[in-house]
Amino acid sequence: MASEELIKRLEATIENIPDFPIPGIQFKDISPIFLDPKLYEDVIGDLVKFSRGKVDAVCGIESRGYLFGIAVAVALDVPFILIRKKGKLPPPVISEKYDLEYGSAEIETREGQIKKGQKILIHDDLLATGGTTEAAAKLVQKQGADVVQFSFLIGLKDLNGEEKLRKFGADIYSILQY
Ligand code: PRP
Ligand code: MG
Repeated sequence: MASEELIKRLEATIENIPDFPIPGIQFKDISPIFLDPKLYEDVIGDLVKFSRGKVDAVCGIESRGYLFGIAVAVALDVPFILIRKKGKLPPPVISEKYDLEYGSAEIETREGQIKKGQKILIHDDLLATGGTTEAAAKLVQKQGADVVQFSFLIGLKDLNGEEKLRKFGADIYSILQY
């Protein structure tokens, strides 16, 4: 969906850092995007094009999901809801636990910010195994809202994150696929 030109500019800007944070991982550093305001604006424009007219609210996943998610919500003129890591939001909160490779994690939203029946876009910078996004979608569903879209800057094909998200029946969009 993104233009070839935008994809090329992003590929030239995102830095691949081998063996970070641990050996064997190819870390995609998105921070150079913020050095180029025009590129940032075009990324937001592309994400907005995917979601315009389709969603009532945007949920962004801490922390890198906030970098683009809020701008997308403002451009769409819909509410933005923070999905945070456990213990950061004051009560009352709604929580969802999920498994990591070692141990487990938990994410939360403030109670009442997601409304029943709302059509929700879940946004994050990166889809890797899909574990984080899957938990976010369950957290949204628990509150009686519908997850209708997922968007990402980057999807890592080999990790099959999209497979984990299929069951939600929502549209999935990654600007770049690695
Ligand atoms: C990274 C990334 C996604 C998640 C993807 O976040 O920003 O949120 O991992 O992984 P998954 O698809 O395997 O769940 P991280 O937890 O490193 O935190 P950050 O966004 O705060 O940097
Ligand atoms: Mg993250």
